[in-house]
Amino acid sequence: MEILVQPNPETASALAAAAIAKAIYEKPTTVLGLATGSTPLALYRELIRLHRDEGLDFSKVRTFNLDEYLGLSPDHPASYSHFMRVNFFAHVNLNPQRTHIPSGLVSQETIPAHCEHYEEEIAQAGGIDIQILGIGSDGHIGFNEPSSSLTSRTRIKTLTERTRLDNSAHFVNPDDVPHHVITMGIGTIMEARKIFLLAFGENKATAVAGAAEGPITASLPASILQMHRHAHFYIDPLAASKLTRLAYYEWVLAHKPAWQRDDIAAR
Ligand code: GLP
Repeated sequence: MEILVQPNPETASALAAAAIAKAIYEKPTTVLGLATGSTPLALYRELIRLHRDEGLDFSKVRTFNLDEYLGLSPDHPASYSHFMRVNFFAHVNLNPQRTHIPSGLVSQETIPAHCEHYEEEIAQAGGIDIQILGIGSDGHIGFNEPSSSLTSRTRIKTLTERTRLDNSAHFVNPDDVPHHVITMGIGTIMEARKIFLLAFGENKATAVAGAAEGPITASLPASILQMHRHAHFYIDPLAASKLTRLAYYEWVLAHKPAWQRDDIAAR
């Protein structure tokens, strides 16, 4: 794992965006796994800026989002479909036919087929090159709540009350937060070639410490990232504040050999 502690969320997001831009310059058909929530907003802003000011071309890029609330239409202001349009898709030259988000309107009987189809679409696209992740305060990734199978695939999940509460700010009434979601599984996420996890703020410090340094356990789903060969954590000092090996991660970053510093040099 690479733990990149940056001075603030903006510099951390810019670093992740530079690495994504580099991947797209090298492979214009890059497949991105996308996340929602407040965490990746600065990353999307920076990717939009790179598109506008530096001509970063998304026309051949394909995207797959992690998850969606069941019961919300794509036009619902709290749906992840709406979130992606407003915060990213509308501002870059992504072909809408190359963007994929699980449907929140799929009927109960067709959920398994819908999830299987989503997995097939990812496979047909050649798999995900870079998966962007946030992290829940309880260590969930996507909507894979604690106790999720570490080899799970895209499926329906029931949210914990804590996650419903954490996400309630996006809804008019906290009771409006759906109980059910469709989410890529942990096994699905782990097949991405690279994983960029972003986490900012004190509220994420316990989850980040568990993910990077705790035991691998379904009780903290992000801890499975320790088994990934290319997991990079872009975090700020507050999210890093409970890491016991922080000094070592900073030492590694300061002494990163030039041949490994492409993403930093690309800024
Ligand atoms: C939701 C999303 C996750 C996200 C998490 C954290 O649960 N499904 O993908 O990482 O919220 O959200 P935030 O970035 O707003 O803290």
